Order: sequence, then structure tokens, then C-alpha cells
Amino acid sequence: MCGIIGYKGQRNASEVVLNGLKALEYRGYDSWGIASLSSELDVVKDIGKIGKWMIEDIDLSKSSLAIGHTRWATHGGVTTENAHPHYSLDKRFAIVQNGIVENYQDLKKELVQKGYNFKSETDTEVIAYIIQEELKDKELIEGFRSAFSRLKGRNAVVLIDSVSGKIIGARNGSPLILGVGDGEYILASDASPIVKYTKDVVFMQDNDVVVLNDSYHIINSVTGEEIDREVSHVSWDIKQAQKGDYPHFMIKEIMEQRTTVADSIAQEKDAVMEIANALNGAFGTYAVGCGTAAKVCLAATYAFSSITHKHINFSLGSEFPSYHHFLTDKSLLLVVSQSGETADTLEAIEVMKKRNGKVVSLVNVMGSSIMRQSDYALLNNVGPEKSVCSTKATTAQLAQCILLAYAAADKYDEGMNLLKDASNKLNLMLNDQFCNSIKKLACKIVDWESMYVLGRGLNYSIALEASIKIQEVSYIHAEGFAGGELKHGPIALIDKGTPCIVFVANDDVKEEILGNAMEVKARGGYIIGVSPEDNSIFDFWIKVPDVGDASPIVNIVPIQLLAYYLAVEKGCDVDMPRNLAKSVTVK
Ligand code: G6P
Repeated sequence: MCGIIGYKGQRNASEVVLNGLKALEYRGYDSWGIASLSSELDVVKDIGKIGKWMIEDIDLSKSSLAIGHTRWATHGGVTTENAHPHYSLDKRFAIVQNGIVENYQDLKKELVQKGYNFKSETDTEVIAYIIQEELKDKELIEGFRSAFSRLKGRNAVVLIDSVSGKIIGARNGSPLILGVGDGEYILASDASPIVKYTKDVVFMQDNDVVVLNDSYHIINSVTGEEIDREVSHVSWDIKQAQKGDYPHFMIKEIMEQRTTVADSIAQEKDAVMEIANALNGAFGTYAVGCGTAAKVCLAATYAFSSITHKHINFSLGSEFPSYHHFLTDKSLLLVVSQSGETADTLEAIEVMKKRNGKVVSLVNVMGSSIMRQSDYALLNNVGPEKSVCSTKATTAQLAQCILLAYAAADKYDEGMNLLKDASNKLNLMLNDQFCNSIKKLACKIVDWESMYVLGRGLNYSIALEASIKIQEVSYIHAEGFAGGELKHGPIALIDKGTPCIVFVANDDVKEEILGNAMEVKARGGYIIGVSPEDNSIFDFWIKVPDVGDASPIVNIVPIQLLAYYLAVEKGCDVDMPRNLAKSVTVK
């Protein structure tokens, strides 16, 4: 949700920032902008995506420092005025922001009374003027610190100053990473624009302010004390963050699942067992996430029920605070998040921490806020996921939840064998012939305005996830239901030929879900069966391997492919669907 970046070093800073914004674009793509300092501080900005822009087309002189922003609009519509960077009134400095200033209306009122004239509807412009006010009687860094401390909400801000030639960055709740190169420094919302130049990074923490000059130093925004932060090494490779020969990140990431499920379970056994023990010892466990990660959490509740015989609760991240009455120091939060930065999920952690409960997280981004705030964390190990819609992180998280359920049932080896088998079979399944058959299916059903997805038990959550995949990339209305709920309303929606995907695993709800498929077929529905075995009820059979409790992993993959081919067939922007963003750092 918005990508911010700043660079200081010997390269052409505007070009580094431009390329960095392309790497960050998946975080938001309503508008973009760059501020660069040469003889003066220049700002260039425009609405739309930055993808096609080349440095030659951008009217900025060569310089050694620049900042940039790619926006997912919150305060104010998609206009050039609202695009970042925003200048101070005196044009001494410009800033970019990721987050929301929750008290911006109060601050704005105060500034208007002081005579500030606002040009945009953003909360960012408020930050610029608050800093300018502070600079009336303070030095740059002190003034910046003081202004930053006045902001409520989760924010990361980067400022470029024309007087001192410094770049300053700060975070409180929104991510900011510092890349430490050889005489060059790059600040960014995540590591993707950094790894091209250096893999040495500092994961900035809340209330850290970093000042980039000939070197860098970090201070606390409240106290001004110098802080020594550890430099970590990121293992992500630049190639992992590029499309390579694939037309879209989504299809690249779907195909990477041939190996990523195995990567996700390649964990230290002791680390897995430690988490399993924490889960067993907890009294009141809540699996919490947002969007696709929430569907993984729901699947986890079924996996723990059937495999571990343990009840765990499910909550959406945004709804979790309503459960605070039930939390104690024995409670445990099982958090699932690809980015590790989702604001609603972070808030759930805050709520749990207030009650002194423990937090276990399954995250993909090393050093992310969620990972750092967890008592125990497993990395998903799938490399950067760039397509807005999650695919390879989802199957990794499903595999990790299933492994934890087995480990908590003291059946670690059995779980490992099951998941390794599922990974091998998934690898064999994802061949050209399989993809082509799904592509043909997509061509056949692409003109339908609505589709439905049915599942039961462990695969109910997969029905919900399948429907999200179809909605978000192809914009086709898709809805997932529990098979048993069909007769209580949704069946009224079935018309002659309506596509209905049904997950039929070899499990104890097989007969029931086939019965539900029959009910749809009797009303003229077109049944797409995802199952290890064919059945006369199916009008189209997607053959998936029989992998027991790991069925959600192999079942979701063909629907990821279907969603992809539907989107391609409709000419949609697959990797950057309208109105969405990959990392949702606002509530
Ligand atoms: C956004 C993304 C989804 C993702 C959700 C949660 O809505 O578009 O793909 O599932 O955020 O993100 P997280 O990073 O916490 O998994």
C-alpha cells in the first residue's frame, strides 16, 4: 500500500528511484512521483502506472539524491495534485509517505489557522507543513523528529532536503528498510528495489529516524538518542523479483509452486516443534489473517481439528479486536501474512500483546513488522511474491499450517512425508498439458458473469480462496460457499449453464459434497469437479493428485491457473488488478 524510496550515492539517483518504483509498483499504482536534488529540488509526478516510463522521458537532471513514491490512494482522489512527493511551502524540502495520519484533520486545522494554503487533499501535505513549522525554530533533524512524533497512525516518511543535501527517513508502523551499499544508501518500503545494489540491510524499527549523508546514522524519533541497528543479509535474489520469460508475475509464481511447497517445510525441526509445543500449551488459540491469508487461517482450524484434535478459533485480522474480552496471558495468536505488514493483522498482534498472550507467525518477508513482533516465526521461504494476488505464499502457508498440526499431534514425520509427497505430486501436476486444459476451460466459461465454488470441511476455505482469486484478477463475480449452505439461499442463483467449481477430496465429506454438486447440476449448473477421481456428475474434471490432508494445496493451484487464464482472456491487468494493492498497510 504505497511504495516509498530514497537514494543517496554515486549513481544517477533519479534513475535508481525510477527503477525502484517499478519494483515497488505492486504496492500501489494510482500515481507516482520523484523528487530529485541537483541545482534545485525538482518534482515530477503523474497519475497512472510508472511501468512504461523511462528515465530519458522524465524531466529530471542527474543527481546523487532523490526520493520517490508509488501511490494507492487513500486521502484524496487519483490526481496529479494528490500524487507524492509533496513540497514544503517554501520548496526547501519534499516528502513522500506510506500510511495514514489519523490526526490529519486536527493538524490541518491548526495549519490553516496559521495561514497554510493546501494544494492537495492528502494527509501527506499536512506532514510537510508540520515539519516546515517545526523548522522555524529548530534544526532539520530535530524539527523532523518533533513533527514525526506528532503524527498518529502507522506511517513511514522520507524527506529530501535541498539545504543540507540530506535524506531523512522514519517509520512508525509502516515498513522502511535501509540498504547499506558501498558509499550508497537506499531506503525503501521493502527489499525488492534494494537487492539490485546491496543485500546488506537494516530493518528499521518503530520510532527510528535514519539520516543519509556521506554515511548513515539512526536515532530515536522521541529521545534523539543514537541507535546501533544490526545489518542483516537478505537472501532474495534480484532474479526472483523479475518476471524472466513469463508474461506475468502471477503465472511465474504459480509455476514456482513446483518447488516452493517443499521449500516452505524445509525448516529446523526444533523450531517447528517449539511452535507446536506453544500451540499445545496455549489456552485459547486464534488463527488470524486478512484476505487470502485469512483463508489459510480458516483451513488451519479444520487441519488442527482433524489432525491434532485441537480447537483453534478463526478471526479476520480486522475483527480480532472484538475478541479482546477473551484474551489472557495463556492465549496464542497464530498469524498468517505474506507481507508481514498488513495493518489489520498488526493491530490484532497489538491487542494480543496487551493481554500478554504469545504470537506465532507464518510470514514471507524477513524482518517484516509482524515477524519482529512475534514470539515465534516461520518464514514461508518462497522468495518475493510480486503479483498482487497471492499464490505461492498461500500454498506455503497451507503446508506450514498442516505441518504444525501434525507436529502438535506428535506426528511430525508423518506430516513431513505427507507434505513432501504432495509437493512432488504438485510438481508433476503442473505440466503444459495440465495448464492447457485449464486454459481451454477458461475460454469456455469466460463470458459468464457469475461463478460459484463449493467446498466442505478442509476445502471450504479453499472454496472461499478460489472465489477471491477469480474475483480479484478477472473481475468476474465469484462466490464460495460451504456445500451444506447451498440449499439455504445460494442455490437460487444457479441458472442453466452457471459454472460451479466443486472440490471433491478423498475425505470424510466426499459423499456430502458430491450430493451438493448433484443439487447444482439438477438446476442446470455446469459442474467443474476438482478431484483425484472423475465422477459422472462432473461436466469438466480437473484431475488433482490424492494427497490426503494436503488436499487444499493441490486443489487451489488449478483455480489459481483458471483465474489467471480468465484474466488474460479478458485482457485484465493480471499483476496489478484495479483498486487493489499487495501490502495493505492501512486499516
Ligand atoms: C491484500 C492482498 C491479498 C492478501 C492480503 C493480506 O489484500 O491483495 O493478496 O492476501 O492483503 O496480505 P498479507 O501480506 O497479510 O498476507
